[in-house]
Amino acid sequence: MTTIDEYVAGFAEEPGYLDHAAFGPVQTAVLEEQRVLGHIQEHMRFGAMETLDEQDARVRAVAARLVRRREDQVVSQTATTPGLLHTAFGLTGGVLVAADEYPSLPLALASAASATGGRVQPVVIESGAGWLTPDLIRERLSDDVTAVALSLVDWRTGYLADLAAIRDVIGDRLLIVDAIQGFGIVDAPYEVADVVATGGQKWLHAGWGTGFTAFSDRALERVKPALSGPHGTTGWPIDVPSVRPAAAAFAMSRVDPVSQARLAVSLERLTAVGVAAVQERIADRVDRIIDIADEFGLPVESSRDPPRACRDRRPPTRRRTAHGAHRGDAQPRRHRDRSSRRGAGVCVRVHHGRDAGHVPRRVHLVRHDGLTPALRARRCSASCGAERS
Ligand SMILES: Cc1ncc(COP(=O)(O)O)c(C=O)c1O
Repeated sequence: MTTIDEYVAGFAEEPGYLDHAAFGPVQTAVLEEQRVLGHIQEHMRFGAMETLDEQDARVRAVAARLVRRREDQVVSQTATTPGLLHTAFGLTGGVLVAADEYPSLPLALASAASATGGRVQPVVIESGAGWLTPDLIRERLSDDVTAVALSLVDWRTGYLADLAAIRDVIGDRLLIVDAIQGFGIVDAPYEVADVVATGGQKWLHAGWGTGFTAFSDRALERVKPALSGPHGTTGWPIDVPSVRPAAAAFAMSRVDPVSQARLAVSLERLTAVGVAAVQERIADRVDRIIDIADEFGLPVESSRDPPRACRDRRPPTRRRTAHGAHRGDAQPRRHRDRSSRRGAGVCVRVHHGRDAGHVPRRVHLVRHDGLTPALRARRCSASCGAERS
């Protein structure tokens, strides 16, 4: 068992880095694993191939534990999107999906719809409908809907879907989850989902080129593999190829064993510390940041107050969605809100190391409790040595 402090010690990211929704700085152990496997690939001594071959089973074993599935229900992928594409192309019937999802899901379903001549039918929740609460999903279900596809954590607001409640609402339909914005930091009931797809480049800190997809037995029965390549089939070159059993069918070509090893070591470290411990540490940090933001009236886009924020967060109208409906030109709010941060009473200063060139060494956030704007500005420059920015 690893303590949370030991786990944290395995990261070397710059203090103040907060863009994990885009990319999680790669862990030290992951880089070390890459170096070792790279060395093996460089020399390819006798037995090297076996070591490379072992990485697929290694990553599936630890991934299966985390999503509470069997190893044969998990297939290695290079990212989240390929797993969603494999799934989308194998579905039949209506699939409920929100236009405001990150494009991976809606695009996969739109492509599947046109390629299958309508066997797959996206049933789209229009842009601006709000978060995917169980109530909203219940409202939009019809008898034609055979599957519901959504993100565990919304890519723009951090809204965490209630998988267990959604499962209650949708009954026997397939529940397809794009988990990447929460995998590794949310102790979610993955066992209620039928498909869980993630990449390892965000909260798993394993770098790009990593990922896996896990299927329930029900999903393996109902989702027909449509994109299996040489690695997802067997029998060739002598017999007519047939798809491999269970999740292994949802594979095209071989996934790089070095990236499998990178993801495996990240998942092994996560298992040793426990997702709950990581979730607790991050929740604590987020609370602190939100407290400071609240104190200075900074807009916070979080799911802490669903009913109010759900109305406030209604995405702007006239926006282009992944389904191609042209609805205008609005930028995501997280970009637009940058300017308002400038006017707020928080001093943010980037500290540079002596010999680090332009590389930021530290970001300093200073609270100015109950001060007038003028005093805030003075205290800001005194404590940070810089004007408010
Ligand atoms: C919710 C969501 N799904 C999918 C992706 C794309 O993931 P990948 O590059 O692993 O396919 C992202 C990337 O930001 C995302 O936020």
